[in-house]
Amino acid sequence: MAVVRVDPAGFELAVRDGETLFEAALREGARWPTICYGQARCTACVVRVLDGHQHLGPIGDEERDVLRQITNRRRGWSVRDTRLACRLMVTGDITVEKRAARPAAAEMPENEE
Ligand code: FES
Repeated sequence: MAVVRVDPAGFELAVRDGETLFEAALREGARWPTICYGQARCTACVVRVLDGHQHLGPIGDEERDVLRQITNRRRGWSVRDTRLACRLMVTGDITVEKRAARPAAAEMPENEE
């Protein structure tokens, strides 16, 4: 098992062996952007890797094609730092940036009356 810190919300997810970051987020009840639910098609789950690059699992052909498209479209995003959460497996602790991700226990803002 490895721990993935998710910034800027600052929460952590425990990722089990054989599990992707996206699968771990769903299992723990976190809110994680997706449209295709893990099919490597929508790119909504994409993360920037901030730390722990040595613990990233290999990139398959399917993910590599999608990452090239993403990094070509987004200024300042490099292939080295960009991964799909729905394909990302880790061998140790890492830190990623995923702005729209929220922990399971996050409280929604209350409506003001
Ligand atoms: S969940 Fe759609 S690409 Fe990862």
